[in-house]
Amino acid sequence: MSKPLRIAMAGLGTVGGGVAGLLLNADGELAERASRRLELVAVSARDRAKARAADVSRLEWHDDAVTLAACDADVVVELIGGAEGPARALVEAALKSGKHVVTANKALLAHHGAALAALAEESGVALKFEAAAAGGIPIVKALRESLIAYGIDAVRGILNGTCNYILTQMEATGRSFAAVLAEAQKLGFAEADPALDIGGGDTAHKLALLSSLAFGIVPSLDAIKTEGIAHITPEDIAFAREFGYRIKLLGMARRTPSGLDQRVQPAMVRAGTPLGDVEGVFNAVLADAGAAGPFFFEGRGAGEAPTASAVVSDLVDIARGAVGAAFGRPAARLKTLSGAPPARVSPYYLRFNVLDVPGVLAEIAGRLAEAAVSIESMIQRGRSPGEPVSIVMITHECSESDVARALKVIAGSDKVLAEPCMIPMEAG
Ligand code: HSE
Repeated sequence: MSKPLRIAMAGLGTVGGGVAGLLLNADGELAERASRRLELVAVSARDRAKARAADVSRLEWHDDAVTLAACDADVVVELIGGAEGPARALVEAALKSGKHVVTANKALLAHHGAALAALAEESGVALKFEAAAAGGIPIVKALRESLIAYGIDAVRGILNGTCNYILTQMEATGRSFAAVLAEAQKLGFAEADPALDIGGGDTAHKLALLSSLAFGIVPSLDAIKTEGIAHITPEDIAFAREFGYRIKLLGMARRTPSGLDQRVQPAMVRAGTPLGDVEGVFNAVLADAGAAGPFFFEGRGAGEAPTASAVVSDLVDIARGAVGAAFGRPAARLKTLSGAPPARVSPYYLRFNVLDVPGVLAEIAGRLAEAAVSIESMIQRGRSPGEPVSIVMITHECSESDVARALKVIAGSDKVLAEPCMIPMEAG
């Protein structure tokens, strides 16, 4: 067997603790699969005194994570997180000093992925990030290496377990977004500061990586339209169910005649389809691989074991000598996209909170007709005349910009009580 692969790791939180446990307690199986031993030699974390399941007391300790870049190791594993600060400094220093890097840091790569990939190429080392998108699901490797013969037409995924958990609980209990979020925080399923998750930012980071791998573009948030789930109401979820749909926060990137459409937004996904039936904290990705057909991946997108599993798979690849381009193509060949994505064409779910007075329905229908938006079906459950009521419409296929134009006018009516809600409908 060749020399062990020497590993330095920054970050001993949930994922780092899991990776340390796997490496320190590895039996011969992992070494056999990697053709050499994976040896954890150095670590860095915020608090040296903290009690940990994995015994790291015999490893070289670094108070300053960035100094790991200069230690006697072949690979640096970065599990600090954040697009800047020590995570970026460590990864840059490690690549410059000729060390391979494995990271779970989606924010870092979504902002600086192309520059870091170029640094890795200059040094002839690997930059791997299976754990950065969809946790334990091997989607990075699938898009980088497996599904390349026919190209990718579209990648759509449920990439944030917190949002999927909240939406699933709202559906199961009929409770509001705020109530379910508060409970999820109490149970430790949602971060104390959940803004990145519920605002769609975390999904956008992951989508930027998947999109780069699938379509050969520079990872970037600039051309991803991003919307979160905080405005989704139990009423929307109940109406979705009536129409045979479920609301999911999707990260979507697809080729269209007007260019690459990349967006993160809540969508109505048909129930009984692979994406529509993904429950709770699970993640899933549907990749349309041209003539090779669609491929569906589902699994745990976060947590100790799934994420540690992804990190170790990258380490095994490196141990075997896999040093390909980080995003599947030379960094200099990745194309830069910017500006808003092309307007989407799809059927839309529209909900209007209005006063139940004569003419309100005609006014809404009229404004939609003026914008060339055609209605396919409609529900209005009347309560008492003059009281607030919801009008829900499903449109035929139409352009997002036409619907948005009509909604802007409708929102200005004195009979309309709140900002109208507009959600695209996905086939599944
Ligand atoms: N907070 C993420 C989620 C996991 O809820 O899926 C890490 O990206």
